Amino acid sequence: MNPNLDVSAIRADFPALHQQVFKKPLVYLDNAATTQKPKVVIERLQHYYELENSNIHRGVHHLSQQATVAFEQARKTIAELVHAANSYEIIFTRGTTESVNLVASSLGRLLMKKGDHVLVTAIEHHSNMVPWQQLCEQYDSNLLVARFDQQGVIDLEHYQQLLEKRPKIVAIAHISNALGTINPVKEMISMAHKLDIPVLVDGAQSIAHCPIDVQDLDCDFYAFSAHKAYGPMGIGVLYGKEKWLEKMPPYQFGGEMVDQVSFEKTSFNCLPFKFEAGTPNVGGVLGMETAMNYILEKGYDAIAAHENALLAYATQQLKNIEGLRIFGESPNKASVISFLVHEIHPFDLGTLLDKMGIALRTGHHCAQPIMDFYNIPGTVRASFAMYNTFEEVDVLIQAIKKASAMLR
Ligand code: ALA
Repeated sequence: MNPNLDVSAIRADFPALHQQVFKKPLVYLDNAATTQKPKVVIERLQHYYELENSNIHRGVHHLSQQATVAFEQARKTIAELVHAANSYEIIFTRGTTESVNLVASSLGRLLMKKGDHVLVTAIEHHSNMVPWQQLCEQYDSNLLVARFDQQGVIDLEHYQQLLEKRPKIVAIAHISNALGTINPVKEMISMAHKLDIPVLVDGAQSIAHCPIDVQDLDCDFYAFSAHKAYGPMGIGVLYGKEKWLEKMPPYQFGGEMVDQVSFEKTSFNCLPFKFEAGTPNVGGVLGMETAMNYILEKGYDAIAAHENALLAYATQQLKNIEGLRIFGESPNKASVISFLVHEIHPFDLGTLLDKMGIALRTGHHCAQPIMDFYNIPGTVRASFAMYNTFEEVDVLIQAIKKASAMLR
């Protein structure tokens, strides 16, 4: 256990972890799907709705002004978290999926023409693949897909070959939700920039686990959701470089994103409001800010050290189980383990583990092309967060042994 992370104290902050499921203590290992929420985040939402609720950027009254200040302060907190040069480069969205759709739609309209290309990798979540595929269909253009190998590592030579076809946009996952692979995004961005190609990074699986510095990465866009990082659902972020956001057309139209409106013509607001049509999720933004401060308080280094130790321990223990295969063995890997045992269907194994109080995800993890690559129907996936323990890994191992003996 990492001496800097007091896991018992952290667990005490998370009410959801202290319940029983089917009369067994809950072992929550579905953190890549969504994390549980600490009390501070729940209380922040409650405080907002009890005492601060009002619409922002629109009211002269005290509550509205107070909520506007808090909302814009949260934007500054998020900008500092990801080291954005300017807080107006932070756009609030519903989450990673909306952030990717925003860029696909808006940057797509700015850059794409018939016959162009967009480049993704073969380990993308559907959310960072389908929007680009649909964009390509719209412009009668081509989706290029960079290969990965059996271990789940991207083939950088193939990526370079595809870059030479001069795609208009590159979209890559920072960390694969299905395999845990940490992609060498800084290198991949630099390779794309040598050919002046902008890069979007899907950071859905990284924001809870590693520090993000968008200026150091030099990414053009970075997308993430709050709910995978101890924050509320339905709120997330798109970071975009000013030079792109300024040129990109609005994604949605409505209140607050406009400047002057008449029936003849509408002009649009400045950044970031140009991309935030309609009443935003103010409570969600404040809850997200609290969640990010919670992470910073614990420290990314301490979190990563603990999660990496859990990953190493769980990997070693799982490999001792007869007939268990792990999918995704990149040397550079985050705390996600996808596996199968013998020929047992992942759904059957997941269902039995659930009856033993263990929450994991089964299936294709919204990454069907990866499952096709391995020629499997899906996997069982355990994913760790800062509050998981080595004892929980032991419970998982014993439960898998028991369930696989029952199912074979
Ligand atoms: N993207 C989420 C997952 O991997 C839902 O489970």
